[in-house]
Amino acid sequence: MKDSEEAVSGYLAEHPYLSSAAGFSQQHTSVSLHSATTVVRAPEAVVRGRWSPSVNAFVGEELLLNHRRSSRDMGMNLGVSRYYAHDAVLSSAHSDLAERLDGAIALPERRRLKSALTSTVVARRSERAFSGKPATTEEMATVLWHGQGVSGSLPVGSPQDPDAAVPLRNAPSGGGLYPVRVAVIAQNVKGLNPGCYEYQPHSHTLFPVRPGPVALSDQLWAADVDLNGVSFALAYVYDLYVNSQKYGDSGLIFALIEVGAISQNIHLARTALGMIGCDQGGYDKQRLERLLHCDGTTRHVVHFTLLGHGEV
Ligand SMILES: Cc1cc2nc3c(=O)[nH]c(=O)nc-3n(C[C@H](O)[C@H](O)[C@H](O)COP(=O)(O)O)c2cc1C
Repeated sequence: MKDSEEAVSGYLAEHPYLSSAAGFSQQHTSVSLHSATTVVRAPEAVVRGRWSPSVNAFVGEELLLNHRRSSRDMGMNLGVSRYYAHDAVLSSAHSDLAERLDGAIALPERRRLKSALTSTVVARRSERAFSGKPATTEEMATVLWHGQGVSGSLPVGSPQDPDAAVPLRNAPSGGGLYPVRVAVIAQNVKGLNPGCYEYQPHSHTLFPVRPGPVALSDQLWAADVDLNGVSFALAYVYDLYVNSQKYGDSGLIFALIEVGAISQNIHLARTALGMIGCDQGGYDKQRLERLLHCDGTTRHVVHFTLLGHGEV
């Protein structure tokens, strides 16, 4: 601090990177006095919200600070032990009853993909140059089944119901509760009317949620993607109470892990099918939730993926 101006100029001449480092830190850490009272919550203002959390809370940090599980915290053990009760086990075993079959659209059987795992994992890339070539319902069914399809069962029989079994899916889920649903926004799929649907894994069907085309450009900011070329988009919807009654705050963390597993299965399947796709973080959460009839309180859109075909 006591160095002369000449000495500082000398350091800067000797270490030119110092100027850009100082410029970067000024640009990326300066927060206006007014940032807490404007609608624009720039990431750096939010991260610095920890300085005045009452007006500018950083929700991610609050979640993690409150997520203090330790061996002395009995809440989790209590929640989990309740789920071994007969009625809780039976409701997991009969989760298929929540699916609505009246008006549901049967999907073709999924294709059995033969591509080698290593080459599929290596070939998966986010690609954004959608050509507008329509997807088939078989391709869509294959992608959805790999992400969320039912492929096994766990026997949980009790004297009251000896044959009870929990259906298991292709992506893991904490406690087999499956709190994430996949919504489909069909834009250009052969044999399927444009509109919003929900994938129902037990019956391998689509339940219509909202008929008619959806302008994807109203739902997300994706300057580098020609959204008209997309065949269909997927929104991953987390139903908070499906797993939080058992896991408390860990329910959200589990759900985000599960979304990652589902979407990776989806990307591997579309890669093996020769389709392209890209995840999108820049979706308008509230608009999408209105579109998909999610209340935004218990049911939240937590991720979004675009799928289709590239140029051949
Ligand atoms: C949660 C998440 C959000 C993403 N959001 C966007 C996005 O909004 N726009 C985009 O072009 N790519 C998005 N991507 C794709 C990443 O840019 C891409 O995965 C990354 O550049 C690595 O490239 P690769 O997927 O081809 O290996 C997202 C990926 C993830 C996992």
